[in-house]
Amino acid sequence: MNQFRKVRADPARLTAFELMRAVWGDAAYANIAMPHLIAAHDLNPRDAGFALELGYGTLRMQGQYDAILSTLVNRPLAKIDPPLLDILRLGAHQILHMRVPDHAALNSTVDLAHYCVGPASATLVNAVLRKVAQKSVEEWIEQLTPIATTPLVNRLAIEFSHPTWIICAYQELIRDEQELRELLAANNRPASVTLVARPGRCTVDELIDEGAQPGHYSPYAATWQGDPALLAQVRSGNAAVQDEGSQLVALALANFHEIKPEELWLDLCSGPGGKAGLLGALARIADAKLLANEVSEHRAKLVRNTVDSEVQVLVSDGLNPSWRPGSFDRVLADVPCTGLGALRRRPEARWRKKPRDIAGLRPLQLGLFEAGYAALIPGGVLAYVTCSPHLAETELLLADLLARTGGNLLDARPLFVGVPELGDGPTVQLWPHIHDTDAMFFALIQRPLR
Ligand SMILES: C[S@@+](CC[C@H](N)C(=O)[O-])C[C@H]1O[C@@H](n2cnc3c(N)ncnc32)[C@H](O)[C@@H]1O
Repeated sequence: MNQFRKVRADPARLTAFELMRAVWGDAAYANIAMPHLIAAHDLNPRDAGFALELGYGTLRMQGQYDAILSTLVNRPLAKIDPPLLDILRLGAHQILHMRVPDHAALNSTVDLAHYCVGPASATLVNAVLRKVAQKSVEEWIEQLTPIATTPLVNRLAIEFSHPTWIICAYQELIRDEQELRELLAANNRPASVTLVARPGRCTVDELIDEGAQPGHYSPYAATWQGDPALLAQVRSGNAAVQDEGSQLVALALANFHEIKPEELWLDLCSGPGGKAGLLGALARIADAKLLANEVSEHRAKLVRNTVDSEVQVLVSDGLNPSWRPGSFDRVLADVPCTGLGALRRRPEARWRKKPRDIAGLRPLQLGLFEAGYAALIPGGVLAYVTCSPHLAETELLLADLLARTGGNLLDARPLFVGVPELGDGPTVQLWPHIHDTDAMFFALIQRPLR
């Protein structure tokens, strides 16, 4: 029994607090935990929207809040009781980044602390948040990182709440400060829901009839505000949620040249099946065949739920393939990666990822590429795809792979029909701030005929 039940906690704020605890206390993924929490609290749509904005926003911006809070408490943040620290972060987010009046943010967060942690903590929360509210976010940034004396990376890290190592990785690719700022800002904006109209099963026009808007570039994309399950085409499985960048890289492989009947395609690591769903439908229309492989039984099940019945789903380690080498016309190697390209969708991910993850993934990325390449017929093509723009997972790894396999790197840009600003090629890097997609990387490698 909670001994402080007499103090009411606002259900939306309590939901956001429980989200923070699930993420930092139980290692949950926010986007998986949150729908359950909203359902458990039976929040109405307005409160659910508030809880989402507060919970996800706080997770994204907590680097900035921790920098501010560490100047206002007399001990290192690591010594503060984690639930109490989460409550302080939630209070800071309401004060600095939401249109909640300061007094409402303060009183409701004090109540939340009282209810969840105890009356003693409520006093501390009240004192600290009053100080947070004394300055605007711009004043805090200037105090923490004076423009005249702070290296740009450190200032951006506080201003846009990103770890410095991620900003440094972006700087390798984006030299212009204004553009870098646009990317960091895009990572902090919630991505809209993008849908894919499954070819042969549903059209974008049918989604538009249900109230969706057309996507930007993919002929199968539409955007939707709100819960996708409200759409009949989504409920029937004819359409699904899929980032437009994810659609574009699958389409680029399909666009390589006209699909010949009987072509064999391989999706080497296909779980949970978004790209296999699109590739399988395009293959079926052209009388080609897709084999969707996935090492994890659980994820293979998700692939089976997504693809048409013509697609064969295989559970196997792509590093030790059971298929004959030299069998496939097209191979997709959408390899496991850090996911640094999807930060706008995964609010806590930037704090969980570590630079060492990149080195840890390298052997798997190399191995899967080599296995995929070995699966190609002479003249066949392999699409190497990551949802990360980090050079160590993209261009640098690719240079190594080309040297090992002797494959020819093709100019992929013409395969992204109608997509602007694709850079100097031959590879393609999509960006949230330019294309409104996740930051997907795509390289197309052809096995020489001889
Ligand atoms: C980036 S995800 C693929 C996303 C997928 N293409 C989609 O669009 O839904 C990488 C997948 O590779 C799988 N994987 C990891 N190691 C593998 C291996 N050795 N063989 C096959 N699949 C593997 C992971 O389980 C994960 O499902």
